[in-house]
Parts: sequence; structure tokens; C-alpha cells
Amino acid sequence: MVSISEIRAHLAGISKLGPNLVGVFVGGTSGIGESTAREFVRHATSPRVYLVGRSREQADRLITEFKALNKESQTHFIQSDVSILRNVDGVCKEISAKEEKVNLLVLSAGIMTMKGRDETVEGLDKKLSLHYYSRLRFTTNLLPLLRTASTAQPPLARVISVLGAGFEGAINTSDLSLRNPNSYSTRAAADTATSMTSLAFDHLASDPANKGVGFIHSSPGGVDTNLTRGFGPVVSKIVSVGIFMLRPTGMIVSPKESGERHVWAGTVDRFASGLSLINLNGEKASGKVFEGLKKDGSGEKVWEHTKDVLRKIGEIGKYEGS
Ligand SMILES: NC(=O)c1ccc[n+]([C@@H]2O[C@H](COP(=O)([O-])OP(=O)(O)OC[C@H]3O[C@@H](n4cnc5c(N)ncnc54)[C@H](OP(=O)(O)O)[C@@H]3O)[C@@H](O)[C@H]2O)c1
Repeated sequence: MVSISEIRAHLAGISKLGPNLVGVFVGGTSGIGESTAREFVRHATSPRVYLVGRSREQADRLITEFKALNKESQTHFIQSDVSILRNVDGVCKEISAKEEKVNLLVLSAGIMTMKGRDETVEGLDKKLSLHYYSRLRFTTNLLPLLRTASTAQPPLARVISVLGAGFEGAINTSDLSLRNPNSYSTRAAADTATSMTSLAFDHLASDPANKGVGFIHSSPGGVDTNLTRGFGPVVSKIVSVGIFMLRPTGMIVSPKESGERHVWAGTVDRFASGLSLINLNGEKASGKVFEGLKKDGSGEKVWEHTKDVLRKIGEIGKYEGS
């Protein structure tokens, strides 16, 4: 386990990475994304931060708070429903028009719902889109800016998808979008998004053009956030109490600590390149299912499927990888 004192000692030194680091936090208006953005602002020198989400009220509150936390920081809000890939393209265009590089791309926009398949106007399931396709679209669209960051001095280019590393599950490679009503279940949606994230990040990490970019899939543990808001205030309260009671088990992380751990992962040398699957303690997330999926050729199928979906929707989707 990487102790929180080790992590805090590292964070105290990230100012040495120099001024003007750029962080993009998709899902930065709440929960783990918000807390990661806050710790980045607290510790970096003159950082530029983009919060992407739907809630302007939340973003306004954070912009004021972050300015007070670090006077040299700049925080911008981009309001967008990123379950729609065309909207993701618009957000990426806006960032690319303002920035030459992106150092840290943190992807945590997500929802918890027991609802069945819920199609967006683009024909993707909303949850699968938020947890996987949209995140891959951000990653591939912003890769040119991440690559630029990987050759700057000092080099720093990371993508973190906050989901479920180590909890990869079986996938149906002939219906990865879970279009068939018989394929869809809450479990299948979670397993598919989690497995596809690890496999697609593995593919991107193995592309020599991305050798200076670190691809991190994290499993945050239990963090008391707004994730259960879709279930209403009563269930959310019960979940919060449950999380509080589970604290002694070591499976629960406070939002602040989760933010600190994600900024650590995004800046510590050990995750500077390649694929890293990490758990709540900052250790390698055990990936037996993932290794099996790699061996049986699922990785290629997932990448072909992803390219196909990204190409068919919207106009960007230029990155094809090797
Ligand atoms: N919390 C945990 O215990 C836990 C455990 C394992 C995995 N995770 C994963 O971690 C991720 C982050 O969860 P969290 O706990 O931080 O949840 P959270 O507090 O509910 O935050 C979710 C974020 O996603 C954004 N979002 C949701 N739908 C969106 C949409 N259509 N367009 C744009 N932004 C959208 C929300 O922003 P707006 O409201 O502004 O749109 C918010 O910023 C999720 O993928 C979750 O599955 C969490």
C-alpha cells in the first residue's frame, strides 16, 4: 500500500514540475473529479484547469473556491452533456483552441443507475457512453495535446479513467455495445465498460507514438460522493451511512484522499508511460480476467469495435492508432 503520508510528501513537491500545467477534469464538478481538481490546484504552480460537466452552479462554486486556494490558478468551466460524442468533440475543440498541451486528463464523468439500456440520440447506451465511449473519445481527441506535453520540459502526460481496474469481467465480443436486450444488465454494462477500458488503454499504451503518455485505469474504492443521487435522497443517505460504517475495513477512501491519490498517480514517475491498472491503495490492481482477455484476442476486437463506433459518430474521431 502506498501510504497517504508518502503521497502527501510527493504532492508537496509537484511545484517542481513548473508553472502552467494544464489539467482537464471531465466530471470535475463533483465527487472524485472535483476532489482531484482541487488537490491539483492546491499543489501545482499556476495551473490551468478545465472542469467539464453539466452543473454551472457547482462549477461557479468551485471556480471561486479554487481561486482562493491558489491565486495563480485559472479555472474554466465547459458546460456539456458528455454522454453525447458530438458534444465531446465540441469540448475538445474548445480546449484545443486555447491550449497547446494537456498534462493531465482525468475522466470520471459517470452515473449509477439500475435502469436498463437507455439510448442517447447517438444510439449508445448512456451509461456505457459515459463510462467508456465518451472517455475514449476525449482520450483520442486530446492525444495530440498529450503527446506535446510528453515532449515538453519536464515531460508530463497522463490519462486517468476512474472506474474499476482489477474488476474486469467477461465480455460478449459479438455485442460490445450491448444492443441486444438479452445482453444488457447492470452487471454486463459494468463488466463491459471496465474490461474495454483496460483493453483499449493497453492498446493505446502499446502504440509507439504514445510512448511518453501514461494510461492509468484506477479503481477508487468506496468514496462518499454524489454518485447515488439518481436513487433519491433517502437511498443516498443510506449509502453514505453504509460507507461510513465500512471505513474500518480499508475499502473506503475519503473524497479528499481520493483526490490526493489521483493527483499522485497523475504526477509520480512510476506511471509515466505504458498501461497502469491501479487500486485504491495505489498498487497494481490484480487483473487475472484482464490477462485472460488479452490472451484470447479480445483486445483487438475491442479496439476494432471502438474505432468503428468513434468513426461512425461525429466528425473528429481521427485517431486510428496502429
Ligand atoms: N464513488 C465511488 O465509490 C466509486 C466507486 C467505484 C467507481 N466509481 C466511478 O468513479 C466515477 C466518478 O464517480 P463519483 O463518485 O465522482 O460520482 P459523482 O460525485 O456523481 O460525480 C460524477 C461526475 O460526472 C458528471 N456527469 C455525470 N453525467 C454527466 C453527463 N451526462 N455529462 C457531463 N458530466 C456528467 C457529474 O457532473 P454534472 O452533475 O455537472 O453533470 C459529476 O461531475 C464514476 O464513473 C463511478 O462509476 C466511483
